[in-house]
Amino acid sequence: MPCALNVENLSIRFSGRDGDIAVVDDVSFRLEAGESLVIAGESGSGKSMVCQALLGIVPKAAKVSGTRIDWNGRDLLATTGEAWRAVRGAEIAMIFQDPTAALNPLITVEHQITDAIRAHRKCTKDEARARTIEVLGMAGFPELEHRMKSYPSELSGGLRQRVAIALALSCAPSLIIADEATTNLDVSIQAQIVTLLRRLKDQLGLALIFVTHDLGLAAEIGGKLMVMYAGHAVEQGPVLDVLADPCHPYTHGLLRSAPTLKSSRTNPLQPIPGQAPKPGSIGKGSPFRSRCPVVVGGVCAATRAGWTSAGEDHQVACHRFALDGREGVR
Ligand SMILES: Nc1ncnc2c1ncn2[C@@H]1O[C@H](COP(=O)(O)OP(=O)(O)O)[C@@H](O)[C@H]1O
Ligand SMILES: [Mg+2]
Repeated sequence: MPCALNVENLSIRFSGRDGDIAVVDDVSFRLEAGESLVIAGESGSGKSMVCQALLGIVPKAAKVSGTRIDWNGRDLLATTGEAWRAVRGAEIAMIFQDPTAALNPLITVEHQITDAIRAHRKCTKDEARARTIEVLGMAGFPELEHRMKSYPSELSGGLRQRVAIALALSCAPSLIIADEATTNLDVSIQAQIVTLLRRLKDQLGLALIFVTHDLGLAAEIGGKLMVMYAGHAVEQGPVLDVLADPCHPYTHGLLRSAPTLKSSRTNPLQPIPGQAPKPGSIGKGSPFRSRCPVVVGGVCAATRAGWTSAGEDHQVACHRFALDGREGVR
């Protein structure tokens, strides 16, 4: 199967008073057609910046660099201006945390989607309407014929997110990026949307990038996981392998601080002490060293760890793991 997406050495910098500050630093990952990748990490770790780079929608002040972002033979790093129109929405579509941002409040659900379809491809009104009904159906939008005449403000958060998903599906993309797309929803609705995304991935053969700070949801999505910390990828591997056998001290910390059914007064959550470093303050060393309980004296402050294998397709960037293996990071 051809590789759909190959991101090599992606960095994103903003200019600061003391020079360029990297908010994403040397991140690489691959995604095959029909695969899913979960990107997890605390707020500010650079997850959204990575997604925005894949659509060419980073803020104007951001400088994106890297070896390549290969998308089915096209280098997205070299894509500019009008050429993005062939990719954005049509081949790669994004679903945001806040569906209202993607929806025009003054236009009915039906017309939002027919307008998007007709902007991307030549078709009659009837064809666009038929496709609208089809994608709303795929997104599990209920009582279609009647409710697609609604305005976004007349819908619940969960239904608005289903409209945003239908909009994302409308031009038949091969990759959908969901950036915290379930974060604002009630837990039960969140579960429904995660189930829907997974089903769409399987049924349509879509590749999916699912961004979350919730490792429970990562397990529901499945596929591969990339854990990010302060702009760096620190651990990558099959989701279930990484969650069952976390090998970076940060992933351990994230799992300990994640609410589970076992969390109780006798087994309390343990938030990771301290705060993530400010972008630009990391220097050459390990990004996690200021909070790391198993820091390797001298080494972690001086150099960034390369990747060490922790299993099949499972890699960790940690000096302690490279030195002492699993026992060292527990
Ligand atoms: N326009 C901007 N100018 C400078 N820094 C920014 C800008 N937008 C985002 N950042 C910084 O980039 C970092 C990564 O942000 P983001 O990708 O949104 O994180 P996440 O999605 O993981 O919460 C953060 O430290 C944030 O402060
Ligand atoms: Mg974000």
